[in-house]
Amino acid sequence: MTEIIAVANAKGGSAKTTTAVNLCCALAATGRKVLLVDLDPQCSATVAVGFEHNAEQRSLAGVLISGNDLSDVLLHYVKGSFDVIPSGEDLTAVPVALYNEADGIRRLRHALVPVAGEYDFIFIDCPPSLSVLTKNALCASNYLLIPMVCDYFAIDSLMSLVSLYEQLNQSGEARVQLLGVVRTLFEEEHPLSRQISRELQLQFKGLLFDTLIPYNERISESTSAGRPVMLYDKSSVGARAYLTLAGELLRKLRHPQESSDQEQDGQSA
Ligand SMILES: Nc1ncnc2c1ncn2[C@@H]1O[C@H](COP(=O)(O)OP(=O)(O)OP(=O)(O)O)[C@@H](O)[C@H]1O
Ligand SMILES: [Mg+2]
Repeated sequence: MTEIIAVANAKGGSAKTTTAVNLCCALAATGRKVLLVDLDPQCSATVAVGFEHNAEQRSLAGVLISGNDLSDVLLHYVKGSFDVIPSGEDLTAVPVALYNEADGIRRLRHALVPVAGEYDFIFIDCPPSLSVLTKNALCASNYLLIPMVCDYFAIDSLMSLVSLYEQLNQSGEARVQLLGVVRTLFEEEHPLSRQISRELQLQFKGLLFDTLIPYNERISESTSAGRPVMLYDKSSVGARAYLTLAGELLRKLRHPQESSDQEQDGQSA
């Protein structure tokens, strides 16, 4: 069974890419077969694992627009032991090219069919928008993971994503379930972070991951170095937080109800 997880939030800079890349790395380190799909024309995930985006190479845009073979675009990230579908700036052409196409938001889902069986996990890093690209990710996935920074307006943008995936499920175009909300770039000493975090606990209950990803300089350094943080400084607070998050994610997938009950019990204790 392949778990396909869209990592999305319309709000920019909520650590979508960092979360997708580091979860791929953490799960690949446990021997699982993992694929990272960079669905953002900013190419951040591609660059975050040290690949350069090259306008010459066959691209994901060609797969989505012209139905080219996805396996021709696959790269292997040797250091992280996982596969990557890199992005290119030409992905910006996709929303216009797919406008008015009846199956426009299901292109990624169809493209993944021939390769999906080879993986235990596929993570899709979405752009900071609710565009056709994000809709493609939601239609291709069985789970949605939302990283969010606990600051002003964060809950509003989160709710707009929640209503989008609910609409897609209601129309039958997607069958995606909210796996959870992850608090990222968390600053314990910041009163607003703590306040919004409490609101999230009330609103999302068992759907809020217990693991908090703290603000950690080593994470931003690792991004500039083109490496997941656990390959940059595996003893850093950031690396340990993402390893813990990967463990929690595995538990949630194994026992969704049990893990959500435990979280609710923990909150009421
Ligand atoms: N926990 C953290 N501590 C410190 N820096 C972090 C942390 N998480 C992410 N960053 C940094 O914050 C910046 C934004 O993170 P990232 O690119 O993952 O966000 P994003 O949601 O994917 O952004 P976008 O919306 O533009 O796609 C990056 O420079 C990244 O290195
Ligand atoms: Mg990103």
